[in-house]
Amino acid sequence: MKTDFLVIGSGISGLNFALNAAQKGKVIIVTKKKIIDAGTNYAQGGIAAVLSKTDNIANHVKDTMEAGAWHNNKKAVTFMVKNSSAAIKKLMTLGVNFEMENNQLKLTKEGGHHKRRIAYVGDYTGKEVETVLVKRVKENKNITVLENTFALNLLVKNKTCFGAQVIKKAKKTAKNIKIENIFAKKTILATGGIGQLFKHTTNPSISTGDGIALGINAGCKTKDMEFIQFHPTALDKKLSPLFLMSETLRGEGAILVNNKGEKFMKNRHLLKDLAPRDVVAREIYQQLKKGPVYLDIRHKSSEFLKKRFPQIHEKLKEISIDMSKDLIPVTPAAHYLCGGIVTDLHGKTGIKNLFAFGEVTCTGVHGANRLASNSLLEALVFSNQIIKNLGKSTSTIAKSVTGDIFSYNPYTHVKNIPGNAFGVRNLLPSARVAMKLKHEIKNLMWEYAGIIRNCKKIKKEAIPKMRKIEKKLDTIKTINQEIAEARNMAKVGLLILKAAAKRKKSLGCHFML
Ligand code: SIN
Repeated sequence: MKTDFLVIGSGISGLNFALNAAQKGKVIIVTKKKIIDAGTNYAQGGIAAVLSKTDNIANHVKDTMEAGAWHNNKKAVTFMVKNSSAAIKKLMTLGVNFEMENNQLKLTKEGGHHKRRIAYVGDYTGKEVETVLVKRVKENKNITVLENTFALNLLVKNKTCFGAQVIKKAKKTAKNIKIENIFAKKTILATGGIGQLFKHTTNPSISTGDGIALGINAGCKTKDMEFIQFHPTALDKKLSPLFLMSETLRGEGAILVNNKGEKFMKNRHLLKDLAPRDVVAREIYQQLKKGPVYLDIRHKSSEFLKKRFPQIHEKLKEISIDMSKDLIPVTPAAHYLCGGIVTDLHGKTGIKNLFAFGEVTCTGVHGANRLASNSLLEALVFSNQIIKNLGKSTSTIAKSVTGDIFSYNPYTHVKNIPGNAFGVRNLLPSARVAMKLKHEIKNLMWEYAGIIRNCKKIKKEAIPKMRKIEKKLDTIKTINQEIAEARNMAKVGLLILKAAAKRKKSLGCHFML
């Protein structure tokens, strides 16, 4: 298969990029589940932007840098914020119906923001954005979507990317997996996050760090991998993933209380319950050692809550919690990776013809701790810029690439697939082993790279344990998505542990004992 643009991932950054790129050529999107199954769907709060007369670029930049512990790249932050209102307007043109009042966007607040600047759609902003983008992508004749297609490896030679090797998921019981090369002028990593590396996460099952692993294997650089953001308030019930209790609940007045009814954030930070996420997550983590922690929004009427937070209201109702009368039990959970593959303002990765957008990247905008609702904004703004770049594009599609086109290839049995050939392999899956190792990784990461870390223990205990898991995975000689995901998780996990062990002083969401 050949195309102009190969996009890996179908969340906000992949779909938005695809719509932009379709003006320039043919696009193929590969996504490992259904197109709609993206982390974007789980984003509740909204999109931060400079949208009101009382706000300005400097304010938004300052809040972003303050939340990021001043570890951010100011140039990248300013670039993102300057382009924020245009990105929101573009989404509205595509059909996203943000909440409005008197012809003006309604704006809400989250942790770390000193102004109301978050455009939102109820408590399901991500779902609304994803649904609209999917609709536009499906209407576009220049875009082909390949679902249940997993990117196994990037085709890289001499620091140039020619596309990707993908596996197509066979029917549940089938032992055959199709392995195919898709050649492209430009390949785009838009695979989202890594939350599934942790035992407790708000991220869906697809968030296994695949794009980061693909990038590292291709020779990309990573940065700030130690900065894992833990969302302070996931619903404290045994669910997988944990259901998010949006920070906008606190933006609309919810207060955190412990089991004695104490408003424990009162004396912890000037912004109290709306302090930056790392501060709130750590405080809840400590409070949980003494007893349960709750969100209290009982002072708001049932009508208001149902209208403002329909998704949360419904979810709580399912488990017999009436948020207008009952306290909501909460716990922190892995939520967002602030670092990732290093890219510039145009998504360039350092490997020719390989770009990256969204959570998989480290553009430098988030620093050591992302400001709430800057994630969808980053994904949009950076994937919008590409169009300016593409005008200069002269690269052609490789018809076939000879020699060893895999910069990294643990799958020795597929090494000799020539050019654009097509391989059908009869491989026995060792999915059960991989699943067991995935669980080991999740427990290990939660224990050692969680909310409060210990540098010595990471070095002496966690890294050797993760290396052992990697070795076990290397001995598996068959291939399927489960195994490939487990390998990606171990690789990315090791990277996070190494970065965490190196940073000996606490900064942002990397907190050392
Ligand atoms: C939330 O609604 O609390 C999540 C928003 C975000 O992660 O920025």
